[in-house]
Amino acid sequence: MSHIHIDITDLSFSYEEGSRLLDGLTVSFHEHDAVGIIGANGAGKSTFLKLIVGLETAQAGSIRIEEIPVEKKTLPKIREKIGYVFQDSETQLFMTTVREDVAFAPRNYSLPEDEVARRVDRALDLVHITHLADKPVHKLSGGEKKLASIATILSMTPDILLMDEPSIALDPRNRKNLISILNEFDHLKLIASHDLDFIWDTCNRVVLMDQGKIVADGPAEEILRDEALLTAHGLELPLSLTRRV
Ligand SMILES: Nc1ncnc2c1ncn2[C@@H]1O[C@H](COP(=O)(O)OP(=O)(O)O)[C@@H](O)[C@H]1O
Ligand SMILES: [Mg+2]
Repeated sequence: MSHIHIDITDLSFSYEEGSRLLDGLTVSFHEHDAVGIIGANGAGKSTFLKLIVGLETAQAGSIRIEEIPVEKKTLPKIREKIGYVFQDSETQLFMTTVREDVAFAPRNYSLPEDEVARRVDRALDLVHITHLADKPVHKLSGGEKKLASIATILSMTPDILLMDEPSIALDPRNRKNLISILNEFDHLKLIASHDLDFIWDTCNRVVLMDQGKIVADGPAEEILRDEALLTAHGLELPLSLTRRV
C-alpha cells in the first residue's frame, strides 16, 4: 500500500458541550483520491479539515496521517506532509511580498537558501504567478491571493492537499486555472466545498456530510448525479449536469 493515506476512526467533535457537530466519523483516504467533502452550510466541512491538520482537537476518536497520530507534538511533522489552504487567503498570507510568503515555510524548516529559491520558483511556476513574485501581497486581487496561498503550500511539496472552499472569489479564468492546478496534483487531496460544479471538475470521490455523519461516500460520478440524495441533504445537482445536451 502507498505510504500516503489518512485514517480517521470514530471521530467526534463539538464546539460546545451538548451539541455534537461531528459524530463518530470513520473514513480513510488514499493516494490518488481526489475527494470532494460536500454538505450544506454548517455541516462541519471546514471543521473536519481543521481537525485533520490539527487546528482543532477532537474530543474522541483518532486521526492518523501516514501512521502518525495528529496530536500537539506531531504537528510540525504533520504540517510538513499536509498543505492546508484556508478559505480566507488573508489568513494565509502575512509577509510583504508573494516571494517572501512562498519562501516562508521552507525557510522555517531550515532548508538551505538555494533550495528555498528553487522551491519558490517552482511553486510560483506551478500556479502561473511568476510575474507576481515581487508584488506586495496587499496589492493582489482576491483570485491572485488565492493562487499565492496555494503557492505557499506547494513550496513545501506536500503529500496531501486540503482546500477549504477554494473556488470562492475566483473569476472564470482563475477558476479554470485552479482546476488544472488541482488536476495536476496527483497525490491525495480533499476539497471542501458546496460548489458542486467545482467538485465535479476536480474530484473522483465524494463524501457527503449531514447532521454530524457521513451520509454518502462514493464515486463523484454517482453521488453528484443523484439528485434525490443531494436534495435530501440541502444541496442541488451541479449546474453543468442540469443543462440539456
Ligand atoms: N470556532 C467556532 N466556535 C463555535 N462554533 C463554530 C466555530 N466554528 C464553526 N462553528 C459552528 O460549527 C458549525 C459547522 O461549521 P463549519 O465547520 O464551518 O461548517 P461548513 O464548513 O460545513 O459550513 C456551524 O454551525 C458553525 O457556526
Ligand atoms: Mg466551511
